[in-house]
Amino acid sequence: MRVVVTGGAGFIGSNFVRGRLAGSADEIVVLDKLTYAGRLENLRDVAADPRFRFVQGAIEDPDAVAGALEGVDAIVNFAAETHVDRSISEPDAFVRTHALGTFVLLEAARAHALRYLQVSTDEVYGSIEEGSFTESSPLEPSSPYSATKAGADLLVASYQRTFGLHTLICRGSNNYGPYQYPEKLIPLMVLNALAGDRLPVYGDGRNVRNWLFVEDFAAAIGFVLDHGRPGETYNVGGPDECENLAVVRRILELCGRDDSLIEYVTDRPGHDRRYSLASEKVRALGWSASMRFEAGLERTVTWYRENEWWWQPIRSGAYRDYYLRQYGFTLGP
Ligand code: NAD
Ligand code: TYD
Repeated sequence: MRVVVTGGAGFIGSNFVRGRLAGSADEIVVLDKLTYAGRLENLRDVAADPRFRFVQGAIEDPDAVAGALEGVDAIVNFAAETHVDRSISEPDAFVRTHALGTFVLLEAARAHALRYLQVSTDEVYGSIEEGSFTESSPLEPSSPYSATKAGADLLVASYQRTFGLHTLICRGSNNYGPYQYPEKLIPLMVLNALAGDRLPVYGDGRNVRNWLFVEDFAAAIGFVLDHGRPGETYNVGGPDECENLAVVRRILELCGRDDSLIEYVTDRPGHDRRYSLASEKVRALGWSASMRFEAGLERTVTWYRENEWWWQPIRSGAYRDYYLRQYGFTLGP
């Protein structure tokens, strides 16, 4: 199969591309705008593969999309603005990419009768105190990030019902692992702990997330692309849930630091307390998570320790201004 992977220079997309090139005969074209979160460094080890091609462009740009689509069979759309805190301070790009960008991709898929897989998130269901969301739970998003992702999911579903497009939606829980931009909880805490910087914990630190190793999510997306039923949505939840504070304390231990680096900061507005997904439907397709959180977290800390080439340019650039705006304190040298 020849697949266009939009947003393939980001965290999950690049892991998906790596896994797919290694484990299938697919040819892959990555279409990516290269926002602050999209980096060619994420694709460095596959760049020379003859089955791989990179095109820089935005999904909301119909010409760029048309240029990437020649001869392809499927679109897998990872392209998104993905950080909840940025969606609160600057929501514009979230609306543009998730609403307009998804629309442009769906129109292109319709014109060429392509299979279309939308990568989505557990956050579209909102927060749940107990139990887990199934694919038929109502969508009750809390942030501009999750609301625009929910809107995109609804638009995808409409193209299936109205135009008979072969659509699929995968809703993943919180991912972690190599190549994640250090604005998200786990890589931010790992890099700060390694550097001896403060670790900013929102609110009381008791929020719960359902952690999914990125290679497991990438594999699930591949499974759904190959075996999913057209028009269906599949939840992909991680095997373990954990309170933020427990995650942060374990990272401190793995980095040889103590709790004195923890700094409680003002809570995120509209902060969802807990996410949890029931994933029976994707398991019935033959997928299961292979990485438990404890082992995956250790592997992730090791990866960041050993790959300073990857994160050093981020920590010394515009990230420092972002960090000061977001947390009100600076990072060490
Ligand atoms: P990321 O922020 O690391 O990467 C996003 C990528 O999309 C970047 O390469 C960026 O350059 C690209 N992009 C952004 N806007 C674009 C546009 N308009 N046109 C073309 N490219 C554009 O994100 P991620 O964590 O890899 O998430 C990928 C997808 O998975 C997103 O759709 C996200 O909603 C979803 N998701 C993420 C998580 C998670 O925990 N990170 C969990 C579930 C679902
Ligand atoms: P994040 O990685 O932003 O993912 P999401 O909000 O999409 O689940 O945050 C994960 C959890 O960690 C969330 O409850 C917010 C919290 N958090 C902090 O306490 N401090 C931080 O600096 C960040 C980035 C997140």
